[in-house]
Parts: sequence; structure tokens; C-alpha cells
Amino acid sequence: MCGIVGYLGNGDAYPVMIKGLKRLEYRGYDSAGVAILENGDLKLYKCKGKVADLENLVEKSSKTGGIGIGHTRWATHGVPNDVNAHPHLSGDQKLALIHNGIIENYASIKAELQSRGHIFLSDTDTEVLVHFIEDVRAKTGVPLFEAVRMALSEVHGAYAIVVIDKENPNQLIAAKKSSPLVIGIGSDDEYFIASDATPIIEYTKNVVYLEDEEVALIDRKEGLKIVTIQNQSKTPYIQALELKLEAIEKGGYDSFMLKEIHEQPRSIRDSFRGRINLQHGIIKMSGIDDHKDKWIAANRIIIVACGTSWHAGLVAEYLFEEFARIPVEVEYASEFRYRDPVIMPGDIVIAISQSGETADTLAAIELAKERGAFIFGVCNVVGSTISRATHTGAYTHAGPEIGVASTKAFTAQVTVLYQIALAVAQARQTLSQDRVTRLMAELNSVPDKVEEVLKTNAIVETIAEIYKDSRNALYLGRGYSFPVALEGALKLKEISYIHAEGYPAAEMKHGPIALIDEEMPVFVIATQGQSYEKVVSNIQEVKARKGKIIAIVTAGDKTVKELADHVIEIPKTDDSLVPIVSVIPLQLLSYHVAVMRGCNVDQPRNLAKSVTVE
Ligand code: F6R
Repeated sequence: MCGIVGYLGNGDAYPVMIKGLKRLEYRGYDSAGVAILENGDLKLYKCKGKVADLENLVEKSSKTGGIGIGHTRWATHGVPNDVNAHPHLSGDQKLALIHNGIIENYASIKAELQSRGHIFLSDTDTEVLVHFIEDVRAKTGVPLFEAVRMALSEVHGAYAIVVIDKENPNQLIAAKKSSPLVIGIGSDDEYFIASDATPIIEYTKNVVYLEDEEVALIDRKEGLKIVTIQNQSKTPYIQALELKLEAIEKGGYDSFMLKEIHEQPRSIRDSFRGRINLQHGIIKMSGIDDHKDKWIAANRIIIVACGTSWHAGLVAEYLFEEFARIPVEVEYASEFRYRDPVIMPGDIVIAISQSGETADTLAAIELAKERGAFIFGVCNVVGSTISRATHTGAYTHAGPEIGVASTKAFTAQVTVLYQIALAVAQARQTLSQDRVTRLMAELNSVPDKVEEVLKTNAIVETIAEIYKDSRNALYLGRGYSFPVALEGALKLKEISYIHAEGYPAAEMKHGPIALIDEEMPVFVIATQGQSYEKVVSNIQEVKARKGKIIAIVTAGDKTVKELADHVIEIPKTDDSLVPIVSVIPLQLLSYHVAVMRGCNVDQPRNLAKSVTVE
């Protein structure tokens, strides 16, 4: 949520910031701004809209200066407009600050500052914070770095901030709590700072990830110094960045979403490469192998996640129950954290998150940890907060996912959860070795099957053309395909703004059937397998009410073909692997519908890629 970029060095800050903000725009894109410092002159440009709007605004102005901060916003406090856009200035106009997160006690701080004459221009918590820092500095006379630390020690909430001072063109000050911030150390006394490494990647491979409650002073002459909010000095830990530039570029596709959909044969394979050994019929995952006793003794698995990751968790519920015979509860992290959940000895919590930064999932982990649970993380972003907060875990290795709608992360999550379920089943001896070996071989063939499904693109596009103006859509599936129905509906609504609902197919007659008429497209996952006949009956029920059926069927299917208005064929696979294959045409469909409706698929309205506020 919100993108942050900062630069300090001998070059020009502006081009670095604009390029960086474009890379970060997937994190938030309702307004953007930069502040640049040169010879005691603080230039501030900000506006509602995208980074391109900001560029137009700055175009004719002077934009030189070797120190700057930039921000792309996802609004929390106050509507997206020019005034609420970051950076925000202190009352004396000397400090400029950008912020990602929420200052929870901003109202009381604001009231106190107002009573002493501070005047606020915006509705944001961020402006309150920069005035508060100014106030602490004025009252105590301490250097800015110390004032930032002191102010933050009284702040509740989540933040990643960067501050500059008009009177000190040699320093950037940054701090973080529950929102990521990474510092890049370039050659020639150059420093970069950003909310993720994507703006830094082409300048340096040497990075320092700030930890929670750390404040960093980046000084042109003295280098990098880090202290905690409690004023303990820390030695910066410099790591090598592994991200590659190609991974964050569109590679000839019109959008990141389309690129990421097409990357899935590769990303699925990467998520099991080196883990499954077909020859010996074993799965090697250190998060399982190193804690085998815990998995063998597990009484229950609680899965916490949000959105698409929660849907992957639902698939995992079926997998763990079928393969490893462990009862599973799948919880929305946002609900779990605010209940008084019962955690028992022998409970294992699996947290699933693409970004590894989702605030609700992180809070659910902390709560479960406090109550003694063993926590396993399934994350995509290496080194992310969640991957560090869990006891152990497995990365999904899908590569950076930039399109806001999650696609390749979902299939990689399911693939990793599949391997965990198989490995645990092996350890608990709840599946025969023969079945494990056959399922592993089937998993190994999934990338090729996904490749096949991607060839249905033209058929999917034709279907999208027919239904692109629908006002509503229903998605139905049973068993392993129920979470796919939910995911298909989420994909459609989030990028094309068509209202869509996912339901277990049998549940339809308990209410949603009332919606069906000749206008209603009903997408049904009707592959051959355990519930096939039942789903065929559900299709009959829809047809009897004149609904339009678009069915995803197993290649060669005849029964559903006769009933449905349109079919999309997918290769046969085991029931347990159908979600990974059947979700692909639904992703493509949402993509085409959104493009045909003129929507921005990579940056749908009101959304942001990583949700670091609760
Ligand atoms: C939907 C989508 C979101 C995320 C959710 C959780 O396409 O991307 O629903 O799945 O915000 O995000 P992560 O997985 O980063 O925790």
C-alpha cells in the first residue's frame, strides 16, 4: 500500500524518483508527489491521479536537486486529492515527509498540536506526524534524527516514513514499523530508499532491510546509521539483492496481469522444482523435514490468509483433509485476529501471503504465536515481513507479481500447499506410497496442462465478448472446484467491476437461484471426477431457469457440451489438481472482459497490491 522512494547522491533525484514511482505504482495509485531539495530550496509537486499526471505537472518546472522523496498513494485518511497527496510539509515548511501506513493516535496528537496553534491543510494522519516531529524538534532542540525517533516513540500504528529537511541537503531520515522499507547502498556515496526493492534494482545489489522500530540516518558524508526507537544502536546488515530486472518488466505483454497469467507453466514448475523427487517418490521441504514430529502430532491446522490467498487456503483444506487426515479451519486473517481464537497444543497455523506484508495476516500470526502455535508461512516475496515472522515456511518462487489481481501467486500457492499436504501425508502414513508417487507424477505434468489451457485463449476471448456487458455473474463449483468458483468471481469483480458471486454448486438452490434468468451468465467448473454427476444436475437446474451456462469441462466431455451454451475444455487431471488448471481460463476471461470494458487491469480502482493497513 503506498509506494515510497527516496534518493540521496551526486546525481539528480527526480529521474530516479519518477522511474521508481512508476515501478511502485502497483502499490497505490490515487495520487502522487515528490519533494526535491537543492541549495536550500524545497520544491514540492503533488497531485491527484497517477505518476504520469505528476510528470505532466512537473514538466515545465525546475526539477534538479540531489536529494528527494517521492510517493504514490493509496488513500486511508482523506479522499484522493492534491492536498492529501504526499509529501506533507511541517508548519514551518522546512520538513517534508512521506508515509505508508496508519498513525492510529493521530487524532489526539492533532488536537494537542492544534491547541498550540498548528494549522493543518489536509485530512491526513501523515501531516499530523510531520508537524509532530517539527514540534518535538522545536521543543527539545535535538537534531532531526533524534526528533524523529522521539516522536515515533509516542506514535501508535504502522508506518514507513522518509523525512527530509530543507536546511540539511545531506541527510535522509527513514523509519519503519509494520510497513516495509529497504535502503540501497550504491557506489559513489549514493543511497536509495524504497518500500520494496523494485526501484533500487538497477542501481545497486547492496541493500539493507530496515527492521520494525528502527530509525535510519542516511548521511552523505557519514553513511548509514541505524538506531531503534528505544535508542539502541544497530549494525546495518547489508544483503545482496537477488531480484532481476526482467522479472519486473512487462516483457512484450500489454499488461503485467497478462504476462503473469502466461508465466504460470514456468512459475508452477519453479514452485516444485528441487522439491519433488519423482525417482525416489519423496518431497523435500525443510519446513516439513525439520519439524516432522510437529506435523505427525498435529491435531489441527488453522490457515490464515486474505483474498486470493484465502482461496488457496480453502483448496488446502480439502488437500490436508483428504491426504493427511488432519482437520483444517480456514480463517479470514482479519476475523481471526479480532476473535478470541482457541489455540490448542498440537495446532499448526499456516499463513499464506503473496506479498508477505498483509497487515491482517501478520497480526493473526502474532496472535497465534503469542498463544503458542507453531507457524508455517507460505509467501512469495523473499525476505518479506511474514516470511520472517513465521517459525518456518516455504516460498512459492512465483517471481514478482505486479498486476494487482493475483494470478500466478494463486497457482504457486496451491502447488506449494499440495506438496506440503503430500509430504505430511507421507510422514503420517495416511496415503500409500503408490498414491503419493502417482500424485507427484500428476503434479509434474500440470505445467504442460496449463500450457495447453492457455491455448484456449481465443475461445475465452469470444466468450468474454458475449458476456462483457453483463451486470452480474455467478460462479459454481463443488469440492476442489468450489474455491476456484470463489476465485473466478473475485477476479471478475476486482478488475472489470461486474458484480460476481462464487458458490458451492449445490448451495445455489438455497437462495442464489432466484437471481437466474436469461441475462445471467453462470460459470460452472464441471470437470469429470467425484462430483461430476451432481454438477451436471446443477447445470440442468440453471438451464431450466434459462440461465446461460459457460462450463469448464474435461477434454472430450459430451454430456455437459450438450447442455451448456459454451464450453472450455481443459486436460484431464486428478480432482485434487483441477484448481490449478481450471482457474486459468477464469483468469483469462476476467482479463479479456476488463480490457473490453476499458478497465485498467493492472491497477483496478480502489485496490492496491499489498494491503499493509488493516
Ligand atoms: C486478489 C488479490 C488480493 C490478495 C489479498 C492478500 O486478486 O490479490 O485478494 O490476495 O490482498 O494479499 P497477500 O497474498 O499479499 O497477503
